[in-house]
Amino acid sequence: MTQRGQAIVLIGFMGAGKSAVGRRLQERTGFPRFDTDEMITAKFRLPIAQIFENQGENVFREMESEMLRTFDPNGNAIIVTGGGILLRPGNSELIRRLGKVVYLHADEETLFARISRRSSRPLLRTDNPRATMSQLLQKRLPLYEQIADLAVDTSRLDHDQVCDFILEQIKTGK
Ligand code: S3P
Repeated sequence: MTQRGQAIVLIGFMGAGKSAVGRRLQERTGFPRFDTDEMITAKFRLPIAQIFENQGENVFREMESEMLRTFDPNGNAIIVTGGGILLRPGNSELIRRLGKVVYLHADEETLFARISRRSSRPLLRTDNPRATMSQLLQKRLPLYEQIADLAVDTSRLDHDQVCDFILEQIKTGK
């Protein structure tokens, strides 16, 4: 069995609240926060949409795996991942060794409403983003569910309530 670290790793679809909840968890735990999207953007000095356009999705996915490999498996940390990070075989194992895997999810309408507030997600720049979202979601749901230690429905919770739930569950050893 793989040794598991001390980190809290947030996984889930776009719009599930990973980035905002990650920031709150950082404030409340004092742990350093790492966000794979931010790390990749900093490395390329380009927005994600531009990386997809110039280098292609594959290069972005390779970078996600590379970022996961840079994390200290024994360190306390809040790690925020991009919604497609589990698409690459091998990433699940890299994620699980880091610590507690917390899956943030929400109902489709909520996800779409949140995602629609910003147009920065390259994968949803299609003629029918709602249908594209549904297709991606169906494909990915089992991947998230498979590796989650803990799942939180964020549809009707604010960020602090999501943090309360996560920290309480971890404290009680769930
Ligand atoms: C992606 C999700 C994005 C980002 C990229 C690809 C995906 O992150 O990594 O646009 O494939 O679902 P968020 O989940 O933070 O939006």
